[in-house]
Amino acid sequence: MENITEPKKRILSGIQPSGALTLGNYVGALRNWVQLQKEDIYECYYMIADLHAITVRQEPAALRKNCMDLLAIFIACGLDPEKEPIFFQSHVPAHTQLGWVLDCNTYMGELSRMTQFKDKSKKHENNINAGLFTYPALMAADILLYQADLVPVGKDQTQHLELARDLAQRFNNAYSDTFKVPEGYIPKVGAKIMSLQEPTQKMSKSDPNENSYILMLVPIDKVVKKIKRAVTDSGSEVKRGEGKEGVENLMSIYSAVTGKTMEDIELEFEGKGYGDFKGAVAEAVAETLKPIQEKHADLIKNKDYLETVYKRGAEMANKTAMKTVSKVYRKVGFIQP
Ligand code: TYM
Repeated sequence: MENITEPKKRILSGIQPSGALTLGNYVGALRNWVQLQKEDIYECYYMIADLHAITVRQEPAALRKNCMDLLAIFIACGLDPEKEPIFFQSHVPAHTQLGWVLDCNTYMGELSRMTQFKDKSKKHENNINAGLFTYPALMAADILLYQADLVPVGKDQTQHLELARDLAQRFNNAYSDTFKVPEGYIPKVGAKIMSLQEPTQKMSKSDPNENSYILMLVPIDKVVKKIKRAVTDSGSEVKRGEGKEGVENLMSIYSAVTGKTMEDIELEFEGKGYGDFKGAVAEAVAETLKPIQEKHADLIKNKDYLETVYKRGAEMANKTAMKTVSKVYRKVGFIQP
């Protein structure tokens, strides 16, 4: 019999090195990246989105540190750089090359509707720059360059992803079939981890209240304290429901790090109070973060190894990305060099 093997599905995703990573980034994105990479039916490209980070002013030394930290965290979380590329976006010029073409195919109206642009413009009133505005077109380029089938992200990226799909279709209609139209991969649990202090707001490292977020590299005793101080409600039952956003958020975190379902968690804590529950969540999060932190601490000392990882990653990513750029440049009518 003929042996027909399905081609592997492509995955692309990225995280900005615009500060320390939060538990939200881990639960909503990184954790799923690792799982997807382990499944042999996917070919995964994971990048550190440094070009995106400068849409907000960055201190150069801090940016360099954040970039290397992020690379070490990716590996510490279980991504295998031997298997597939991990790279810095700025090492692959094709991102800006395709970004420009997509800028010229994106409408001002589409970009004006982006809620993240609106939020960030409010936060950085003195630096509402053109890059911050056109950033979703660059993100579309990131995805479309690799002809990605799937994009694992948290819920806050769905609007950007929708634009990437629209741009792919628009370009394909105008210039003939060129791009794969990507699908999002949004986890069922943990797609939007909320602030520990205001559970109707997303957990974010830019929150002025330090108790509202957990950073992945924070000392473990702080993690435990923050979870114990998390806002719940005046009731005592560990279950989902109206007015129980705080408890539900902790349940999502617990579910993500233990693999237990929300139903299992409700059963596990039936008849028990918030104290027991928070203790269990804190312990589970600490157990998850501890080995990642230890591995990160080892890796970050090994600059030579990290350099081989990102150089190799860029080489592999460049190869795939340049194929798409050449095709796009030919289709829009540029003379081949
Ligand atoms: P960024 O760097 O803000 O976030 C990285 C990933 O973490 C997810 N995330 C969360 N998930 C659950 N709960 C939270 N509180 C939470 N906070 C963040 C985000 O959804 C994201 O998946 N534009 C992107 C980076 C990017 C990208 C790409 C992603 C650049 N190019 C191409 C996918 C494909 C961003 O700013 O994510």
